[in-house]
Amino acid sequence: MKTILSEIDPYNIDDEIISIAGQFLKDGKLVSFPTETVYGLGANGLNEEACLNIYKAKGRPSDNPLILHISNLSQLDLLTKNISETAKKIMKAFWPAPLTLVFKKSDLVSNVVSGGLDTVAVRFPKNPVAQALIEKAGVPIAAPSANLSGKPSCTKASHVVADLFGKIDMIIDGGHCSIGLESTILDTTTTPPTILRPGFVTIEEIENVIGKVDIDKTLMGKMERNVVPKAPGMKYIHYSPEADVVLINYSKSLFNNHEDYVEKVNILISEHQKNNKKVGVLATEKDVNLYNCDVALSLGDDCNLEEIGANLFSFLREMDSFNVDIIFVQTFSEEKEGFAIMNRLKKASGYNVIEV
Ligand code: TXA
Ligand code: MG
Repeated sequence: MKTILSEIDPYNIDDEIISIAGQFLKDGKLVSFPTETVYGLGANGLNEEACLNIYKAKGRPSDNPLILHISNLSQLDLLTKNISETAKKIMKAFWPAPLTLVFKKSDLVSNVVSGGLDTVAVRFPKNPVAQALIEKAGVPIAAPSANLSGKPSCTKASHVVADLFGKIDMIIDGGHCSIGLESTILDTTTTPPTILRPGFVTIEEIENVIGKVDIDKTLMGKMERNVVPKAPGMKYIHYSPEADVVLINYSKSLFNNHEDYVEKVNILISEHQKNNKKVGVLATEKDVNLYNCDVALSLGDDCNLEEIGANLFSFLREMDSFNVDIIFVQTFSEEKEGFAIMNRLKKASGYNVIEV
């Protein structure tokens, strides 16, 4: 399949590109576009065949539902039933935002989109390119993250090219996604609402608006075999580069000083190198030069979780380009945005967290 790749300036949007892409979506074609979180793989959310093609292109299991993206609130009534007062409060406080809300679905939403559930996940993204495209298409846009199933989500168009070029109709390159981690998902059909996936709209921020929320228990530690997460996609292996990812517990209280930790990680690195393994480390800025590994990349300043989140998927992918066998990553505090970062890291590592 021919894939058109078009660059767009989010601050000076080229209407011709949006018109072509909008028409493609109307016609049932697949278009990848930037959002503030990660790149989406969009299709007309009211066209079953187009939505089925999303699953094919990504190699995505069919029981993993799609998020519908809207560009104004009037689209919501068509897609949902029984919107709670709490949900209205949240929308008013946050949308447009990197926050997806789950509602009871209307009959208009196909089972292909909902994965057979009686609910539908809806997001009103903030990114101006995403908004312009959804508006032009004139229909809700079903869009999962634009990565091959199981791979880290795409935060740059070049990642989408690597995963989906030749399999979809168009890729709109709108630069680097500012947040870099997928949206927070909140199920508003429960009382209180339940966090199904942590993101950069934090639990604290939501609780400031509506009071206490529940957290899906599968987010709270290692995934248990017999406990199924309520967001079906959260049960799959995810965010995995080719190399093994191993998290090394870094809790300040465990070490007398920081050098202690670095020294122990260096011992671990040299043990792996003796076994002919090529070792990569994802570290924070202040440590990145302290590790005697084959490739060390800085995720950013350890006080700047926004920066670390924005770099995480991109650098997991970059490690693959160096052909490392194993990637060691330090753990972060799970407070605020750290909860989303650690959620993605735990999944990328298959919950492989070790002590040194
Ligand atoms: O930031 C994002 O949310 C990005 C951008 C493109 O908007 N999209 C994204 O979509 O991350 P995806 O498909 O990669 O992840 C959606 C998650 C999956 O885990 C899926 O199972 C869950 O949302 N989900 C979708 N519909 C749901 C529903 N009705 N109930 C519970 N979980 C749902
Ligand atoms: Mg995804």
